[in-house]
Amino acid sequence: MHFFKKISDLQAYLNYQRSQNLSIGFAPTMGALHQGHMSLIEHTNKHSNISVSSIFINPTQFNDPTDLEKYPRTLEEDINLLYDHQLNTLFTPPVEEIYPAQGIHTPDFNFGRLDQVLEGVFRQDHFKGVAQVVHRLLEIVRPDDLFMGQKDYQQWTIIYHMLQQMESEVRLHMVPTVREADGLAMSSRNRRLTAEWRAKAPYIFRLLSEAQENYTLRPIAEICDQAISTLKEMGFRTEYFNMVDGYNLENVTSPEDHKKVVACVAAWAGEIRLIDNVILKEDHTFSF
Ligand code: PAF
Repeated sequence: MHFFKKISDLQAYLNYQRSQNLSIGFAPTMGALHQGHMSLIEHTNKHSNISVSSIFINPTQFNDPTDLEKYPRTLEEDINLLYDHQLNTLFTPPVEEIYPAQGIHTPDFNFGRLDQVLEGVFRQDHFKGVAQVVHRLLEIVRPDDLFMGQKDYQQWTIIYHMLQQMESEVRLHMVPTVREADGLAMSSRNRRLTAEWRAKAPYIFRLLSEAQENYTLRPIAEICDQAISTLKEMGFRTEYFNMVDGYNLENVTSPEDHKKVVACVAAWAGEIRLIDNVILKEDHTFSF
């Protein structure tokens, strides 16, 4: 595995690979890696000649300083996992490489309401920070293909729009969510769940699966309200449990009127905020 901390060294290496007509696939991460990330790496390895990943805990996407402070930092374990999964190139820049003192230019992207709904209601400016860092990393890595997880469905949608606004040729791939045997979506935050909350957490996916079974049979509002009540009875603090249009992320009332429908949830399991989603209705006419 090739390992770089400096942009100039990474770029010299990647420029050489490009000159050999090798394709570059990129999977950005913030570390604390798990099998969900390894699935991103596997997709990148399969699709591209040179697989690149980054570990950078981006301060600009944390609206809560405590969340940034508590974000797990497990670089040694991460490197071992990436090595085992045959990643070609790892980039672990210090903050000054990504955000130099002289500043960086980030275009003024307009996401309309995409960054105002769902997560946007609860995490002010989070997606501004995500777009800023992904734009910066894309400028540095210049990949042909970008691999991001379905678990952060809204993030994926916003990056898709960012690439369109940039008129970028980078192909964005959505890698399906990887789940524990009991259904809990893999997340770096899961390791911070108490034993009691770890036992309850799979209920989130159970309710999403029930939504999947029922969304054509029962009124959407009833399904969402019932899911929120069930989560409340179990002690979760639910921020949203919504069924949304898969493209504009606005709430849906009649799923038959939408090409793609996604059920999205965010709930606090004690001190840990969990998010998850299930694509209820897929749009098979859409291709990247
Ligand atoms: O999904 C993440 O881990 C982060 O939001 C990302 C895309 C690496 C940007 O910091």
